[in-house]
Amino acid sequence: MDKLQTTIRNDVLIMEISNPPVNALSQAVRAALLAAVQRLTAEPQLRGGIILGAGNTFVAGADIKEFGQPPTPPLLPEVLGAIEACPKPIVAALHGAALGGGLELALACDARIALASTVVGLPEVTLGIIPGAGGTQRLPRLTGISTAIKLICSGERLQADAALKLGILDEIVADDMQGAAISWLHSTASCKRPVSVLRVPQETTEDIAKAEQAALKAGKSRPAVIAAIAAVKEAASIPFAEALAHERAVFETLRASPEAAALRHMFFAEREATRLPAGLPQTPRPIQTVAVIGAGTMGGGIARTALEAGYTVILFDQNKDLLSQAGENLRTKLPQAQLTVAESWADIAQADLVIEAVFEDLAVKQDVFRKLDAHAKPGAVLATNTSYIDIDTVAAATKRPEDVLGLHFFSPAHVMKLLEVVRGTHSAPDLAATGMAFGKRLKKIPVLCGNAFGFIGNRIYNAYRTQCEFMLEDGAWPEDVDTALEAFGFAMGPFSVADLSGLDIAWRMRKANATTRNPRSRYVPVLDELCERGRFGRKTNAGYYNYADGKRSSGSDETVRAIIAEASTKRGITRHELTPEAIQRRALIAMVNEAAQLLAEGVAQRASDIDVVLVHGYGFPRWIGGPAHWAQGQERETLERDLDIIAAATGFGFVRGDLDILLNKTKGDNAS
Ligand code: CAA
Repeated sequence: MDKLQTTIRNDVLIMEISNPPVNALSQAVRAALLAAVQRLTAEPQLRGGIILGAGNTFVAGADIKEFGQPPTPPLLPEVLGAIEACPKPIVAALHGAALGGGLELALACDARIALASTVVGLPEVTLGIIPGAGGTQRLPRLTGISTAIKLICSGERLQADAALKLGILDEIVADDMQGAAISWLHSTASCKRPVSVLRVPQETTEDIAKAEQAALKAGKSRPAVIAAIAAVKEAASIPFAEALAHERAVFETLRASPEAAALRHMFFAEREATRLPAGLPQTPRPIQTVAVIGAGTMGGGIARTALEAGYTVILFDQNKDLLSQAGENLRTKLPQAQLTVAESWADIAQADLVIEAVFEDLAVKQDVFRKLDAHAKPGAVLATNTSYIDIDTVAAATKRPEDVLGLHFFSPAHVMKLLEVVRGTHSAPDLAATGMAFGKRLKKIPVLCGNAFGFIGNRIYNAYRTQCEFMLEDGAWPEDVDTALEAFGFAMGPFSVADLSGLDIAWRMRKANATTRNPRSRYVPVLDELCERGRFGRKTNAGYYNYADGKRSSGSDETVRAIIAEASTKRGITRHELTPEAIQRRALIAMVNEAAQLLAEGVAQRASDIDVVLVHGYGFPRWIGGPAHWAQGQERETLERDLDIIAAATGFGFVRGDLDILLNKTKGDNAS
């Protein structure tokens, strides 16, 4: 099929890009556009042109799949150069999304009109690159340097009205964009107005410096952010053509970087994760009304995200005070939402989906499920929001285990994107599609998991944290481990995370598991010792660190060090220094080893799903692409050596994962 349909209407050449699903600017599209612009230039009866997109959208940018391959001509800057150089005016008529190369294409035209529902943006930095077809040069000529820095470094997507205010768009029309564009081309206002000849609006150096600092902070000073700032600033300091050549050279260098490959991998992995495996029914059960049981932080957050997605929500809690408070909060935040605060269990009978979000305790959850069994209508999906509890044991409390599913939300539930959808042994096949469709409607990234301890995320995090505890006993202090892992890119090191979430939760679980733990397994008693001294983390102003003045102390104190040193002595270990690199590699290989096991056991469907879970739920640096992608970039021999190191450190009970299964590239990695 032709990637570009051309028609002539009222002496205007209409160029409609048709490259489903998102009209990405693949080589075929670029070539067809260039040919059409040459035709517009050559045919004297044509007075101007219109570029628009067929289907749901204008153009979502360059074809990201092409980024992993050598570029093939004509390149986008050449096409855009031809549009600017064409003696006849060309209008971009936008709807849906004009992103990345799509917006750059529009910026090379002489006017931009759009439907009110259009979004525009330059998200390249989120892919580890900078705009490579004039975006860093044309945008600041319309918006000024500081706004361009803000927009390009964040990758923010603007609604049409905001873009109009900033001068990125010229006009918003209610409908009939073609008609509006033709009228403009026939009006006296119609002329060549290339953005490249505009002067960059004047701004103070302080304003620009402020925008720069804010962008660096928000973008964690990643290479693409630094490069984007430098490129945008050149718009005001060197000639357009020269700056354009610089922009392209930087774009090409960044495009080939491992960071950009990791970010592209994440882009496709996030989309792949939401796909159901073949063989499962794809049709979800219809869900309109959702009941949430438990009005605490988690239940309140789940109710909020469901209300925001347009579901009717019934909220219930046996604690009436908590329930009315949560109900009031939600009504204040979302006054238009369809919320009912239930009086009794009987009120959940309307729900198509019930999500239990009560205390993380098997007996409590089973009790709730017995009530759900008695009150929920036949065919309703009964979901448990749990981070560790066995779905089958919860399901066994009902007479309908086929309707029971795990939905593991992450806190705060209305903010965090990740949702683990856990199938129990007896879950009906259509529950997978139902959970995944529900997650997508919540605008989350749902990942399908099997029912195993900790599912995907907590199982890997557990292995990682345990390895970090071993490193304490071996010779590192908590701050050594945290600093090394934060330097690697984790949002927070494991001991800072533990202090934040409260050590008592892990302590309670450890005590519950004490009788089943094999005494030969290596066990680090530091956390228990801290808890016995009332050090539960931030909430008691002391844990691995001190928080006396509301801020984390830079290092652990003498008490903590004494507890750790005593643990080393008891285990007969002579404490030795661990370099930041050794710490990073041990922590990472622990994740990788567990990931390999999860894949072998079928708990995770794809290696790339594991990456999505770790990046979106556990602060793994997105620009490294998750533990599986990281491992795929390492030498096999080094990984095996790392495995030997943690095997020796773990001792009895260590299970070595089969790296083959993890290192074989999966579909989610197709663009790297
Ligand atoms: N290149 C290749 N494929 C793309 C793509 C792109 N730019 N944008 C989307 N797709 C694919 C997706 O992978 C997905 O494919 P599958 O169905 O096979 O999974 C399909 O198009 C639909 O995408 P979504 O599932 O994301 O659909 P949506 O309706 O939820 O969202 C969208 C549509 C808002 C356009 C969203 O896809 C999006 O944000 N795309 C990325 C935009 C982007 O980052 N563009 C910048 C590219 S870099 C660039 O342009 C640099 C340059 O210098 C020229």
